[in-house]
Amino acid sequence: MQTIIEPFRIKSVEPIRMTTREERERVVREAGFNLFLVHADHVLIDLLTDSGTGAMSSEQWAGVMRADESYAGAKSFYRFERTLQDITGFAHVLPTHQGRASERILFELVGGAGLIVPNNAHFDTTRANAEHSGAEARNLPIPEAGDPRSQHPFKGNIDVAALERLLEAERGRVPIVMVTITNNSGGGQPVSLENLRRTRAVCDRFGVPLFLDACRFAENAWFIKQREPGQGERPVADIVRDIFDLADGATISAKKDGLVNIGGVLLMRDEGLFQRASESLILTEGYVTYGGLAGRDLEAMAQGFKEVLREDYLQYRIRSTEYLGRKLLDAGVQIVEPPGGHAVYIDAKAFCPHIPPERFPGQAVVVGAYRHGGIRACEIGSVMFGGAERPAPAMELVRLAIPRRVYTQSHIDYVAEALIELKARASELRGLRIVREPAALRHFTAVFEEL
Ligand code: F0G
Repeated sequence: MQTIIEPFRIKSVEPIRMTTREERERVVREAGFNLFLVHADHVLIDLLTDSGTGAMSSEQWAGVMRADESYAGAKSFYRFERTLQDITGFAHVLPTHQGRASERILFELVGGAGLIVPNNAHFDTTRANAEHSGAEARNLPIPEAGDPRSQHPFKGNIDVAALERLLEAERGRVPIVMVTITNNSGGGQPVSLENLRRTRAVCDRFGVPLFLDACRFAENAWFIKQREPGQGERPVADIVRDIFDLADGATISAKKDGLVNIGGVLLMRDEGLFQRASESLILTEGYVTYGGLAGRDLEAMAQGFKEVLREDYLQYRIRSTEYLGRKLLDAGVQIVEPPGGHAVYIDAKAFCPHIPPERFPGQAVVVGAYRHGGIRACEIGSVMFGGAERPAPAMELVRLAIPRRVYTQSHIDYVAEALIELKARASELRGLRIVREPAALRHFTAVFEEL
């Protein structure tokens, strides 16, 4: 069959609320044109993030009831630990409350002043945690990653030659190399196995550990199966295992491919590092067999990490994101091509060429999408990555992140229609100016004024 359907049926429904244009106008002004400050009740289709916004399965909910809430040594922890060990092959598995807690612990142990942490593309929390430790976070994407029109099948790849030069020039100053799969900040683009193998070889040559930011490991593996020569006939679970076999450890936000609403994982092989990470975990997160979560969260994760490897799920997941991306492209809305795994990224510079980067074209599109269709999207451009001391980012993007197993095809059709209409009136969109911002991670709380 040509039609790829949602491989599930709906057992429980949550009404969403229609809003009027007048209401949205008032709401967006009151929120200082920052959609993070809007109450979710005023949003019709929420594409702010794919993180923690997915729907759990009936088996996950059954796990919630089955869970063991013992403080130490709960059955649920061992089920969770075994599942992660089976999938990833890492000996040591620490639960954390979410991805950034894993990052905080990792950088507390390996970061520090004067050090440099390279990555294909740091996500904002990864960058913030590396910098918080005193280290410099440096992005080394391949050149194609900065060109929204490039059709490179693995635009998430790290620039291995640049990595090699960095390790050569800064011997002793690079404590770990990180690779983010898929690269969230650069379009949700995958990293190839071949690129990971070459990265591993360079890391080995310089004796530097390789860690993955593996939030979307299953989506990345599906792209490898679809696009990498020789991988098409292999089970996704085997590809996933190959990916993790190349790394010394990983941080994972389970709110993505873990298919849960809260949770994270910190994985590693090294016993000494694990001991130190455990101490840090206990200090701020919780004991090592729960890591700041409830037993029910561990159960939900154990089941979610298994379900995400189902190939009918991954086929539907990646295909439905692509469906939105193709619809927009066909109507002349430039996106980062090819469409990403968890999100479609609109090229805001192309969407509103009359707004310069310092007037935040991405934020203008975000505000427009909310006003016009009640859709909440997320700016990934000069608001998120810019600032007085930072170079302007290569792209001004608007991310339409698709929550997992939540919206149906008609929701997606609505989103496409609204954005295509907005594009036709893009000359009416106005740039913005920041009137108030915090010291770090300003996109969450900055307040804007329309120009
Ligand atoms: N790494 C990547 C690649 C991410 O996308 C995220 C979160 C994190 C780390 C941090 O995980 O939120 O559980 O602490 N990304 C979300 C997003 C917030 O909207 O893309 P967390």
